[in-house]
Amino acid sequence: MAPKIVFDKVTRRFDLKDNAFVALDRLSLDIADGEFVTVVGPSGCGKSTALNIAAGLLKPSEGTVLVDGKAVEGPGPERGMIFQQYALFPWLTVRQNVEFGLRIKGEEASRRRQIAERFIDLVGLGDFADALPKTLSGGMKQRCAIARAYAVDPSILLMDEPFGALDALTRVQLQDQLLDTWSRERRTVMFITHDVDEAVYLANRVIVMAARPGRLKEIIDVGLPYPRTEEIRLSAEFMSIRNRVWQAVYHQ
Ligand SMILES: Nc1ncnc2c1ncn2[C@@H]1O[C@H](COP(=O)(O)OP(=O)(O)O)[C@@H](O)[C@H]1O
Ligand SMILES: [Mg+2]
Repeated sequence: MAPKIVFDKVTRRFDLKDNAFVALDRLSLDIADGEFVTVVGPSGCGKSTALNIAAGLLKPSEGTVLVDGKAVEGPGPERGMIFQQYALFPWLTVRQNVEFGLRIKGEEASRRRQIAERFIDLVGLGDFADALPKTLSGGMKQRCAIARAYAVDPSILLMDEPFGALDALTRVQLQDQLLDTWSRERRTVMFITHDVDEAVYLANRVIVMAARPGRLKEIIDVGLPYPRTEEIRLSAEFMSIRNRVWQAVYHQ
């Protein structure tokens, strides 16, 4: 089967005063349909740059990203983005935030309501549908952002350190919920994280990047079965994969 996302020798330079800085150097990577890949690497190694190019928010200097065989020219409804800072509209309720993308998609009111309801329940915000974001905890805001991204039914989720600002327990809950939804709705996920444990726990494959210039360093197959459980998280296999990723990231 053709890959869902292809990075084909993607380079991105930023022009500085005197020279051009290479943020991403010839990244080539295939992501399969339905695959969950996580991306780890030191700060500044081009993770967000790569994701933003796939999202169509940033143009490559050279090379292309293909989604379903077509070159990415800009953002599209088949690619949902979730960022670390919960980009919610503060003047809209949870329900209105989740319905927002559906409105743009042209869904009629009753259908919008029905879809929003389903995803609000899925992320456990059923009792807070009419709440404004400022009244929610960080974890709840992020659940809302996830529900909003899911609601428009993108086949790809591009997530940039989405759980980075959350406490450890909320983070683990959202990881399990994300995996649960992913296994039922089967989306392709590219997920950036700082956290090596999180990277291994979630992924089919962990993409390790290196800095200066930002580039692909190593791809590590996780090969652990789903559903991932606490037992797997504590297993010797998990530890050994985690240590391999750790080595690849920190001994550059
Ligand atoms: N708009 C920009 N202008 C200049 N340099 C940038 C810009 N965006 C990112 N960079 C630089 O490119 C490199 C990679 O950035 P980024 O992709 O955000 O890294 P990461 O997400 O891995 O921390 C960094 O050194 C960063 O400072
Ligand atoms: Mg980043």
